[in-house]
Amino acid sequence: MMRTNDEILGQFEAALSQMQTPEEPELLYAPIIYSMAGGGKRLRPVLLLIANEAFGGNIDKAMPAALAVEVFHNFTLLHDDIMDNADVRRGKPSVFAKWGENVAILSGDAMLITAYKMLTALDAERLPRVLHIFNDMALEVCEGQQYDMDFESMTVVTVEDYIQMIERKTSALLSGSAMIGATLAGASDDDIKKLYRFATELGLAFQLQDDVLDSFGDEALGKKIGGDILEGKQTYLMVQAMNRASEVEREVLRTTHKNEALSDAEKIATIKALYEKLDVKRAAEQQIELRFERALAVLNTLSIAGERTVRLQEFARNLMGRKK
Ligand code: IPE
Ligand code: IPE
Ligand code: MG
Ligand code: MG
Ligand code: MG
Repeated sequence: MMRTNDEILGQFEAALSQMQTPEEPELLYAPIIYSMAGGGKRLRPVLLLIANEAFGGNIDKAMPAALAVEVFHNFTLLHDDIMDNADVRRGKPSVFAKWGENVAILSGDAMLITAYKMLTALDAERLPRVLHIFNDMALEVCEGQQYDMDFESMTVVTVEDYIQMIERKTSALLSGSAMIGATLAGASDDDIKKLYRFATELGLAFQLQDDVLDSFGDEALGKKIGGDILEGKQTYLMVQAMNRASEVEREVLRTTHKNEALSDAEKIATIKALYEKLDVKRAAEQQIELRFERALAVLNTLSIAGERTVRLQEFARNLMGRKK
């Protein structure tokens, strides 16, 4: 019997609880414990372990890689919150808000190193291939994050530009995780390529949904609603609103977040009113549905028996039901 996704999550949490972090210097390590401790959905390690199991891998042998991708993910969040000026994460102060920028930078660096340290526990014969995937994935996330920053000061960002940006900043980590899991199980190159496509499409759907939730979710989500609007982010909502807006509306869309005469609440309300008027939430939802369907369709093409892909399907469905 294959494990359920909840059982896999349980095993991952158990392994994570064994992770040793030194106590001093406190301002280096306490933020790592804080970040790893609570509230994360553990999507990337669970996807890695599900992919591994689907191809007949051994969960214990894959666990160091699962730990590595989760630590890497949390490292990106420490730096992302500095870059996005985000005070709240998972319903609590972000590391940057709690301890300041310098601490978030250095603890983040230590987490990146810790992720690599964890990889060294993998079987030596698989390590080079895993490292290759890990490195490509890590650099892609950096590229995506830089495009995300670049786009803040650009007036015209196309849907294609936007998709390429989120494919790097968000899909890369999911697709890398899936590929690493399958690689450790000895899957064929063809299946690994297909899993890459599955997780890439799923990651696009996930980030599109993250954009929608940032503006239209509720605070129970664990972050401040409207953060993307206040930062002037080029989200899917903004890109599509710019496409559909009149000349006058376009000016409002691109300048409201910088308008010092308005409070944060007024800025958010102004932009959301335009999003409603231009019906861009629905456009985003259609795009999410399309990407999700594409992801599922790829699963049918894998060489393994259909019942081996059930957990991947469940993982995808679960992700789409996300409320936080
Ligand atoms: C947050 O990822 C960053 C994005 C790519 C949107 P998650 O929503 O997976 O973060 P946690 O770890 O579950 O909090
Ligand atoms: C997430 O993008 C991408 C990475 C952290 C690499 P966001 O900036 O949209 O993520 P949240 O909304 O802060 O979680
Ligand atoms: Mg952010
Ligand atoms: Mg960001
Ligand atoms: Mg976001």
